Amino acid sequence: MKTEQPYLLTPGPITTTLSVKQAMLQDWGSWDADFRAMTAQLCQSLVELVDGEGSHVCVPMQGSGTFAVEATLATLVPKTGKLLILMNGAYGQRMGKIMDYLGRAYVALDKGDYEPPRAEEVAALLAADPEITHVAVVHCETSSGILNPVEEIAEVVARQGRRLIIDSMSAFGAVAISAKKVAFDALISSANKCFEGVPGFGFVLIRQSVLEAAAGNAHSLSMDLLDQWQYLVKTGQWRYTPPTHVVAAFLQALKEHAEEGGVSGRHARYQRNQQRLVAGMRQLGFETLLSDEWLSPIIITFFSPGHANFDFQTFYDRIKARGFIIYPGKLTEADSFRLGCIGQLYDTQIDAVLAAVAAVLDEMSIPDGTPAHVLDSLATA
Ligand SMILES: Cc1ncc(COP(=O)(O)O)c(C=O)c1O
Repeated sequence: MKTEQPYLLTPGPITTTLSVKQAMLQDWGSWDADFRAMTAQLCQSLVELVDGEGSHVCVPMQGSGTFAVEATLATLVPKTGKLLILMNGAYGQRMGKIMDYLGRAYVALDKGDYEPPRAEEVAALLAADPEITHVAVVHCETSSGILNPVEEIAEVVARQGRRLIIDSMSAFGAVAISAKKVAFDALISSANKCFEGVPGFGFVLIRQSVLEAAAGNAHSLSMDLLDQWQYLVKTGQWRYTPPTHVVAAFLQALKEHAEEGGVSGRHARYQRNQQRLVAGMRQLGFETLLSDEWLSPIIITFFSPGHANFDFQTFYDRIKARGFIIYPGKLTEADSFRLGCIGQLYDTQIDAVLAAVAAVLDEMSIPDGTPAHVLDSLATA
């Protein structure tokens, strides 16, 4: 095994601990009591982490996060329902695509690449369209890194008697959210982001009463979360082959999450990573896409340097050669790239990646990270 692996400054899969990887060295019988106990523990821990005891249940779903998002929309938004999707990036847009496939009604509040949806706008849209039954929002829209104001949105959605679905794929585990304070029917996340497990399943924390009333909604057997949950309750097993090794790794990851201080402990480390990255990159002349108010502790978008010598692939390859994998941008308009704050990253790695960025700029004969729009305004001043 290669011992010097690059660190992932990406939004998942992320760099995991050796102990999480080692937890996968045993094979498990999927129907065996030992594995059933592992599944039960996983579900119980996740319900507790969202404060959902007595109201919400955990339904795991094989596959990547998108499978869990699709299964949630298919199971919870009835064929006669209508969804309002709050879009401000790729993952909100993907929910629209899922609804297109499902052939179910939806409207979008599309805020472009990075503007947050605000409570007043959502309230106005809901008031104007009584047919809207559900609202979907992305907690941290990973394509820009913005942390959307889910609390204020949940409040207006509840006030107007509609149902809320939160895609918290890249936030849950490091951004506190409580089912006792934020009214949601479903919160979706996955194993390989802030919990620092390996990829292989997503999970949905669903209001039990809503799930029980969802019979007949799903368009597809595999995507039916009600069927998945009923089988789990009846047998203690996943329907169909579970990702056994991934579950074992996740339980180890949950243990390490608790040892780090749970959601608040993890949040503190990621927030520190974010602050050090932002400060260090700004010192090198880079600019963040978002103002500080909207920056998440998950991932940060930086404008690419505007200097003529900049080429993302060269920049990427040279940083990789120094031991770090960074992430391309996902904006429709500006040239950008992203640095993730999550996973096994500490001060040592953050300092080293900042040094790598400085060295690579030097190698590429780029004086600093000043973006094109700043260079342009300097040229015309
Ligand atoms: C907010 C959000 N939603 C959905 C997804 C899709 O997850 P996956 O790529 O695991 O299918 C991601 C992935 O990064 C995400 O960040």
